[in-house]
Amino acid sequence: MDRKDISFDEFDEIENPSSEENDFDQIVDSAISRRGLLGGVFAFGSCAALCSTFAPNLALAATDRFAFEAIATNSLDAITVPEGYIAEVLVRWGDPLWSDSPQFDHATRGTAASQARTFGDNIDGMEVLAHGNKSLLVVNNEYTNRSIIWGNRADGKSENDDDILKGKMAHGLSVVEITQQDGKWNVVQDSPYNRRITPDSEMEITGPAAGHDLLKTSADPSGTKSLGTWNNCGNGSTPWGTYLACEENFNGYFSAADEDHKVSAELKRYGVSSKDWGYGWAQIDERFDVSKHPNEPNRAGYVVEIDPRDPNSIPKKRTALGRFKHENAELVVNSDGRIVVYLGDDERGEFLYRYVSNGIYAPGAETDSLLEDGILSVAKFHDNGAGEWLELTPETTGMADMAEICIHTRIAASKVGATTMDRPEWVSANPHYPEIYCALTNNKNRGIKPNAGGDQTPIGGPNPREANKYGQIVRWRPNGGDHTDKGFVWDLYLLAGNPTVHSGDKAGSKNITPDNMFNSPDGLNFDSTGILWIQTDGNYSNEKDFEGQGNNQMLAGDPVTGEVRRFLVGPKQCEVTGLTWSTDRRTMFVGIQHPGERGDSHWPEGGDAVPRSAVIAVRREDGGLVG
Ligand code: FEO
Ligand code: CA
Ligand code: CA
Repeated sequence: MDRKDISFDEFDEIENPSSEENDFDQIVDSAISRRGLLGGVFAFGSCAALCSTFAPNLALAATDRFAFEAIATNSLDAITVPEGYIAEVLVRWGDPLWSDSPQFDHATRGTAASQARTFGDNIDGMEVLAHGNKSLLVVNNEYTNRSIIWGNRADGKSENDDDILKGKMAHGLSVVEITQQDGKWNVVQDSPYNRRITPDSEMEITGPAAGHDLLKTSADPSGTKSLGTWNNCGNGSTPWGTYLACEENFNGYFSAADEDHKVSAELKRYGVSSKDWGYGWAQIDERFDVSKHPNEPNRAGYVVEIDPRDPNSIPKKRTALGRFKHENAELVVNSDGRIVVYLGDDERGEFLYRYVSNGIYAPGAETDSLLEDGILSVAKFHDNGAGEWLELTPETTGMADMAEICIHTRIAASKVGATTMDRPEWVSANPHYPEIYCALTNNKNRGIKPNAGGDQTPIGGPNPREANKYGQIVRWRPNGGDHTDKGFVWDLYLLAGNPTVHSGDKAGSKNITPDNMFNSPDGLNFDSTGILWIQTDGNYSNEKDFEGQGNNQMLAGDPVTGEVRRFLVGPKQCEVTGLTWSTDRRTMFVGIQHPGERGDSHWPEGGDAVPRSAVIAVRREDGGLVG
């Protein structure tokens, strides 16, 4: 299989196959409990479970909660939004951040030098942060597609060191000041806040793992100063005005020049191998050669806190939040002032985590320790609708200390018997009620194969379908409304599916219809009114199991009634990911990632232009609120 056409997950599986063992008895047991669970799921369509608990929300539900008419799916190379809405491109991969930055060159797709002075590639998590009267847009630039960034080269392969460095400089984050004029949003070139954070930017490592031997390298014997952040997927933000960038598939950038090099079992758990994903970084930067610098991968896979208000601030890797393939970081201030962060590890059969600070947040007081000192737990879901958070400590895991737990977090979670999940993607907390939602995007290995740590992946609980193709959204309510409580109750908000092709569980839950169906929920983000926005990163073939589902899209979900309505359809071969709002809530900013990842898009410029990932600004023609 050509590696450029497979996902990170698939690449990991090829390089690091997990055992094929199949616990038939366990699957049969789970199938029995699954029938019970699905009864509960489908009952939810009638609002049986939630309405009594959240009666105050019914008043909101009585008004028209969706201020738009549903749109149909399509496979166009365009953005589609409902009548009465405008969608405009705000900023694209390769757009200048400073007046002396070059314009994007479609023939060459830029150089390393031009890329370092322009907007990064493959937009993912993002946030508009208010700073005085200014709006700072912080955007993750997750990764690059070889066939796009090196599409000017034969077979989409880098031809020289500058090509490789161009790809590296397209990673990281872009910070831009934005402003609105006559309705239209623009980047403020030369703003003192404009900034690129790249895989070469200086970082500080903080928290329990800082300074541990496993983080020490020849370039950094202190184990506290690393270089760069890359593969930043989803994001979070804090009430003290900072941004959280989440390092996801950090493993795909490491390789070994020494072909006989044996990668440690700990690194294999994270998919590090002697081959990289084709980025070639070790060819130009020796620290990505794991045969020479085996501790370097231990310095990635964290949540990174960034202060965009100070362009000279050094981003901080917050090891207390654990090391895994972080999707996003959903931060909630608990009623007692403690900080709670919900975190998904996006890989088949990996886990869902919660961090609770030991300290209390108080506006204006010191906040640095809040993400450095706390308790990390992992979720266990029981089939009866209850769940619990299992603390990861030396006592519960048998591991040496918190430093080791914060570095080898997946191993710690396996030791306590956490629930293997169908790829936890974004987590989002309802702003009005203590309930949290997580997208479980899909998992072809569910009930088929264990995870990379050998943990079984039985069918049941919040992962009820074998070889799960469509994904689901699980939600839970902490006991007593206390986000720090050990216990919670959960149900499934929806099971995605295709009711025009299938009956039974592949048709999806009752709130999925031929008019709103989709696959692979990924981005989740509540707006201030309590509408849950759902973004997809799935199969856009529009055929067979996915017939009638069209391109990747964004939908709105009502958490009370369960209704789901399609709002936006992206261009060809894109993923829709990343969502934030202007401070006046009259514009939503949406990320369009890798249009044309398989060679069939010219969005947004059309003609024979190179396809470019972009942030779009969506607003109402009448200037009304959009969230
Ligand atoms: Fe970068 Fe799990 O998506
Ligand atoms: Ca994602
Ligand atoms: Ca995804």
